[in-house]
Amino acid sequence: MRIEDIETPALLIDLDILDQNIRTMKQKLSGTNCSLRPHVKAHKSAFVAHKQIKEGGAIGVTCQTLDEAEAMALGGIDNILLTNMVVTPSKINRVLNILQHSKIALTVDNADNIRMIAAEAEKRKQVVGLVVEVNVGQNRTGVAPGRPALDLAQEIVKERSLDFKGLMGYEGHLQCSIPDFNERKTKCEETLSPLIKTKDLILDSHIPVEIVTSGGTGTYNITSKIEGVTEIQPGSYVTMDHRYRLMETSGRDFPSSLSVLATVVSKPSSDRAIVDMGWKSVGIEYQIFNWNGMPQAKNHDGVMYSPGGDEHGILSLKGSSIDLKIGERIEFTPAHCDTTLNLYGKFYGVRKGNVEIVCPTVRR
Ligand SMILES: Cc1ncc(COP(=O)(O)O)c(C=O)c1O
Repeated sequence: MRIEDIETPALLIDLDILDQNIRTMKQKLSGTNCSLRPHVKAHKSAFVAHKQIKEGGAIGVTCQTLDEAEAMALGGIDNILLTNMVVTPSKINRVLNILQHSKIALTVDNADNIRMIAAEAEKRKQVVGLVVEVNVGQNRTGVAPGRPALDLAQEIVKERSLDFKGLMGYEGHLQCSIPDFNERKTKCEETLSPLIKTKDLILDSHIPVEIVTSGGTGTYNITSKIEGVTEIQPGSYVTMDHRYRLMETSGRDFPSSLSVLATVVSKPSSDRAIVDMGWKSVGIEYQIFNWNGMPQAKNHDGVMYSPGGDEHGILSLKGSSIDLKIGERIEFTPAHCDTTLNLYGKFYGVRKGNVEIVCPTVRR
């Protein structure tokens, strides 16, 4: 099958670029003391996860949802960190089911939740690994650094069905909000200092800390060099997106492998064309942050996209010499890879114009 045979709208991943990004990350981390545990939220497929492990030197994967974790375990991935809270017995039991097949640890930030996980694991005579999440400034999940994190670590070591693995402090608020590298670096080092101090506090209490995990695509080459961080969890670097491409140095280090292929379905006037890619086909939510949340037309400078509803996109051709015809196909780089990939359920893995694989992904 050739790209020309794919019906649109469709999600494409250029496998040469994907492979290149996987190799680049491996090479960038060589010589550091930091391991790589990539986040699968950007690709949601065991196929890419296996590549990241085999070719990219990853020690395992990070997942954000239980569905992703189950898909990774079913796909034969053996070492999973679930970076989200699991707070109901039914979901805790899904984690324990995964644990029958693959090593999995999950994050916690609350003592009652720790006791609930301990009780469920105890009933099944299992031991589950827990990582205490520390809030390093994103103000999402996570307990305050210092004493509150130590209290949770002590809560975990009391339970025989639990294994305290370490700490996570994800500096998500810094990933793609500060284009300048040096400014981001200074902020990131300041932000993660309380995490490292918390690790030392826990060690002083004679509790071993095996993992300190942090870092994303925007901070991978900062966080991985901070002493005390044992692993990083970048996700977007394999696919990339328009927003990340604007960040120094991530944007330079990792080209975009992900695109949405769309077709011109109407040409109402010389300066306006309509494509079959509306907001059900591409993530545009970055507008919330007043960032440019629009997909960018590849190889068509001057073509500006704006959403025209669920299934339509409006292309302004004003000021450009481009004359798009009905039936013509255009590739777009999404502003945000995660929310775009989430809309599909499969991607076409293409190499030099040929479709090499059609890869299922976990759909929300
Ligand atoms: C907890 C956590 N870790 C890692 C990542 C990966 O970040 P990125 O895709 O920006 O590299 C995310 C992204 O949202 C995240 O929420």
